[in-house]
Amino acid sequence: MEFYDKVKTSADFISERVKERPSMGIILGSGLGELVELMEDKEIIPYRDIPYFPVSKVEGHAGNLVIGRVGTEVLMVMQGRFHYYEGFSMRELTYPVFVMKLLGVEKLIVTNACGGINRSFHPGDLMLITDFINTAWDNPLIGDNDERFGLRFPDMSEPYSRELIELAKSAAGRLSIEYKEGVYAMHQGPYYETAAEIRMYERIGADAVGMSTVPETIAASYLGIKTLAIACITNMATGIRTGKHSHEEVLRIAAEAGDRLLEWVKEIIVSEKRS
Ligand code: HPA
Repeated sequence: MEFYDKVKTSADFISERVKERPSMGIILGSGLGELVELMEDKEIIPYRDIPYFPVSKVEGHAGNLVIGRVGTEVLMVMQGRFHYYEGFSMRELTYPVFVMKLLGVEKLIVTNACGGINRSFHPGDLMLITDFINTAWDNPLIGDNDERFGLRFPDMSEPYSRELIELAKSAAGRLSIEYKEGVYAMHQGPYYETAAEIRMYERIGADAVGMSTVPETIAASYLGIKTLAIACITNMATGIRTGKHSHEEVLRIAAEAGDRLLEWVKEIIVSEKRS
C-alpha cells in the first residue's frame, strides 16, 4: 500500500472515533505531559488500535492519541512520542504528523527537554526555538515524494512560524514568564554528547541540543503545518559545566519547569484561537 493511503487509513479511523476534528497538534517532551489533564471531552485512542500507526517498544511508555478541547480549540495530543534512538526511521517517527495533516491540523506545538549550550542559560530555562540544525544527518522526507503531501524540494527558511513565535512572546509577556530564544541542534542519542561534540555544536551556532523535535518540525513544515517549539533546558550540556548527566535529573528539572511551560502553552492555545 502507498504511504499516502496508509496515512489516509489512519486518519479515517481517527475521524470516525471523534466528534470534532482537531485543528492543532501537540507533541510533548519528557516530563511535560500534564496538558492532557486539562483537556475536556477527551477521546483517548491507543496508538496500537490505529491502523499503521507506530508503537513504541519501550515498556511502560504511554502511547495514546488524546483528542479533546482546551477552551474552544480542538487538540490532538500525542501522549508518548517516538524517538530516532528507539530505532524508528525518520519517516516512521513522524508518521503522526502526516496523520495530523490529513485530519486538518494547521498548527503544531512541540516541546522537549534538552541540554543548554549557550552559556547565559540555566537549568530550568524555557527556550523558544527559532531555528534548527539537523545534526541527526537524516530526515523524514528522504525517499519517494507524494505531491499530495508537499513539494519534492521544500523551503526550510521558516521552520518555526514567526507568527506563532510572536504569539508565544505576547503570551509570555502577559504571564510574566521569562524565556530565552535560540537554535536547537538534534543529536541522535541515546547517549548524551561528548564534550568535544558540544564544542562543535557551540561553534556551529547551537544554543541547545536534544534528541527530538527536528524530525517533526521538518515534516510539519513540508506539510504546511505552522510549528512552534519550546525547549526546556534541563541541564547544561556536557563540558559546559562539570558533572555527569542522568535521565532522573532531566525528568526532575523538566517537572519543575513543567508548570510554567504548561501555563504558557495553555495561554498560547487560547490566544491563538482568538487571533
Ligand atoms: N543532551 C541531549 N539531550 C538532552 C540533554 C542533553 O544534554 N538533556 C536532555 N535531553
